[in-house]
Amino acid sequence: MRTNKFLGRDWLSPEIDYTKEEWESMLRLAEELKTRYAINEDTSHILKGKTLYTMFFNSSLRTRSTFAAGIQQLGGFHVDLEPGKTYTPARKGFEVPYKTERICDVAQVLSRTGDALAIRMYGAPSQWIYGFAHETMKEFAHYSDIPIINMECDVYHPCQALADMLTVKEKFGDFKKKKFVISWAYSGSTSKPFAVPQSLALAPSLLGMDVILARPKGFELDPEVTKKCHEYAAQNGSTFEETDDMEAAFEGAHVVYPKSWGALPFFAQMDENGKKIKEENLDGMKDLFERNKHWICDEKKMKLIDKNGIYMHCLPADRDMEVTDAVIDGPQSVVYDEAENRLHAQKAIMTLLMGGRL
Ligand code: CP
Repeated sequence: MRTNKFLGRDWLSPEIDYTKEEWESMLRLAEELKTRYAINEDTSHILKGKTLYTMFFNSSLRTRSTFAAGIQQLGGFHVDLEPGKTYTPARKGFEVPYKTERICDVAQVLSRTGDALAIRMYGAPSQWIYGFAHETMKEFAHYSDIPIINMECDVYHPCQALADMLTVKEKFGDFKKKKFVISWAYSGSTSKPFAVPQSLALAPSLLGMDVILARPKGFELDPEVTKKCHEYAAQNGSTFEETDDMEAAFEGAHVVYPKSWGALPFFAQMDENGKKIKEENLDGMKDLFERNKHWICDEKKMKLIDKNGIYMHCLPADRDMEVTDAVIDGPQSVVYDEAENRLHAQKAIMTLLMGGRL
């Protein structure tokens, strides 16, 4: 019997693939690693000599810095395989005219020399098609012998979700009977992935919170995601509801998480052979955004939430669009706690998946 049931597993869509008990184990370890960090304990034996490869196909501050710092604190090394300095990994059947190398080759080469590969890809070059990036990561996982860690694709952002659930646990002690609102918010940019809202609908539902998804019509999430949220609510005896009324959702909430994302009906679509069968409609999406400018988190809406309630955002935030300065800089905001907890959550993920010794 394997003594570490996490060893060697991927962290691609753990909101679906890992159990509630496994999330709770991850959270306990993240708390322990955070305590050890706070007392300046040397943890460099935990992943001594292990190598983490990273590939960032989209920009990042928090994820990039905390993975690099985290693996170093655990005694390992970080090698960033910068796009442009390596060949662009291509999915089988999806090769493009520029210099590429098949994912099957990249994954097997890196498996021979490293201990995990972490990837950020939510918008592949010229491929803003919902699900394409997630399928790309799954192809890496198929050919890889080492864990593939999702640092945000176009469907899930599980590292963010684990850090955020750690933050909620720190603030409230447990998840039961706590109302968590994941809400759409306006932004001047329409190119925001679904990863954060989908992971932040699924993870609190899995852990037994009462979740409300607030969004204007047209900003519904992937139906597979909301179906799973309903299943989790039924298993936990909690609730999952959807509304197009932001104020009503905020009433009595313990957590509000207002965040922008795109409108799925306006995205391009492809068939299973990679052929584009529908072009994206950016003008239509922009118009829908502009009609919902009032979906901003301001002090008036924050007065509706529980007196001990908190404001969350994964950052970067679009100030004056998604949220006012008064709210994000105010006493109920925990955005820097969330960013800090990325470090400890990801150290827990790496420790368990990469065979760390405490
Ligand atoms: N929240 C988050 O993933 O931040 P970065 O894009 O800076 O990594």
